[in-house]
Amino acid sequence: MRVFADADDLARAARAELLRRAGDLLEERGRFTLALSGGSTPRRLYRLLAPDDVDWSRVELFFGDERCVPPDHADSNYRMVREALLERVPIPAANVHRMRGELGADEAAHAYELELRAAFRLGPKDLPRFDLVLLGLGTDGHTASLFPGTSALDERERLVAPGRSPGASADDRVTLTFPVLNAAAAVAFVVAGSEKAAVVAALSSGGDAAGALPASRVRPGDGRVIWMLDHAAAARFA
Ligand code: 6PG
Repeated sequence: MRVFADADDLARAARAELLRRAGDLLEERGRFTLALSGGSTPRRLYRLLAPDDVDWSRVELFFGDERCVPPDHADSNYRMVREALLERVPIPAANVHRMRGELGADEAAHAYELELRAAFRLGPKDLPRFDLVLLGLGTDGHTASLFPGTSALDERERLVAPGRSPGASADDRVTLTFPVLNAAAAVAFVVAGSEKAAVVAALSSGGDAAGALPASRVRPGDGRVIWMLDHAAAARFA
């Protein structure tokens, strides 16, 4: 777990970590597969990435989750990433694998599963092994669109599942499932803000309370989990 002074320092450190991994993988295999998180925290990081940071023609960009809205909708993670990153870097359109949330949750999940299988050249039982998955953390312990109490948490077969965010602003989602997150070579949680201090403390405390939080189930079998927080989010970390 690495703690940084504020959200800007955190974004700079997350960018450095991402580029370090990208550099290693591009040197080793000539390709870097990255799954992006939605939400406001990673937007700072995406905005820091620059055209000459990496050979974008060899980066394959995916999404960890998406809302079931058109790609130009204000809530779209793709729109956020397009505005914060894609419009500024020379990544080929074919390298950007958008979740087509506008199809509706179940159809979008099936379509994305096919896209993952093609992009990673997977056999019927294979899992995609992302070089890096960026994840955020909700105050309820959700990550990607794996929300407490939803059926997506129990998905063991599908690579991509329909999700549902709770509460008044409940909306349909599409999300990578735990088998995919846990097949990754590296997962980086990027978390900022005092409103996350309680859930970070609950997760770090272990035990039943932590176990009930979806983010606690991100445990790659053969991969690293990196926690990158700002001071405010880590304020109550034991
Ligand atoms: C999304 C994200 C979601 C997000 C958390 C934290 O689609 O919104 O995938 O899991 O990471 O809700 O969001 P903030 O970074 O905005 O706090």
